[in-house]
Amino acid sequence: MEVYSEKQQIITVIEAFKAKKQTLGLVPTMGALHHGHLALVKKALDANDKVVVSIFVNPTQFDNKEDLLKYPRTLECDLELLKTLGKQNILVYAPTVDDIYEGKTLSEHFDFDGLEHEMEGKFRTGHFDGVGTVVKRLFDIIKPDNAYFGEKDFQQLQIIKKMVEKHSMPLNIIGCPIHREPSGLAMSSRNTRLNSEHKKAVPFIYKTLKTAKMRFGTKSADNVSQWVGKQFENHDLLTLEYFIIAEISTLKTVKRKIKNNKYRAFIAVYADDVRLIDNIALN
Ligand code: PAJ
Repeated sequence: MEVYSEKQQIITVIEAFKAKKQTLGLVPTMGALHHGHLALVKKALDANDKVVVSIFVNPTQFDNKEDLLKYPRTLECDLELLKTLGKQNILVYAPTVDDIYEGKTLSEHFDFDGLEHEMEGKFRTGHFDGVGTVVKRLFDIIKPDNAYFGEKDFQQLQIIKKMVEKHSMPLNIIGCPIHREPSGLAMSSRNTRLNSEHKKAVPFIYKTLKTAKMRFGTKSADNVSQWVGKQFENHDLLTLEYFIIAEISTLKTVKRKIKNNKYRAFIAVYADDVRLIDNIALN
């Protein structure tokens, strides 16, 4: 498995693949890899001749400096985990901040037709400009045929699809289902920061989502949202930041259910200072 830290090197290698008409998949990550990330890599390996896994903690998508500083950086372990897939056709691109930003660590501003103002956009100022900036740069450098994103960050997935559509970028965006711990907790690099008490408490998040889904069958979105609010009101260890039921293409909060529209429930919860997000398809 080759590891590149400079874009010029990986560009040269990729040009050689392209000359041989090989297909290329890209899995962008911020490292601290877990089996959720590996599921994306496996899906990419199944459908492409070569797969680039990028590992880059992108500073411009963090609105909170503390969160950026605390973000786990575990390149050696990440490479070990990727090696367990036993494939020769994985390339890792683990650049420095300068290799990506060339001295100007700033976000470009994007218009994602309002998707950026919902949910995470309300609570993390500038987050999606940062995501759009880095993903666009990765697409420019790697020029993948297919790029893979998890439904764990469903809003991010929709935003990347929007960016590709609006800028007519020549690649396919492929969404992948959420990978969970046996307890139901969505896998996340942030889970390693949970203490033992919080680790026991957090499966409550997915349990609540599943019950919310069941209730949505017969109750209004408002009723379900209030019910979820109540479940967290008196919780000793978890603090609800938001729970929203939204239509999946606009991500607008549902006022009244419309037949044939597709809905998802989205949640953000603090377990001490660890912010966790999750979501579930409702129909
Ligand atoms: P990161 O949080 O490392 O996630 C990388 C990719 O893995 C994302 O597409 C994310 O949705 C997916 N992923 C994470 N946990 C998952 C799980 N439990 N199940 C399925 N997929 C999961 O998302 C980012 O990095 C960054 O914003 C990035 C796109 C790399 C841009 O910096």
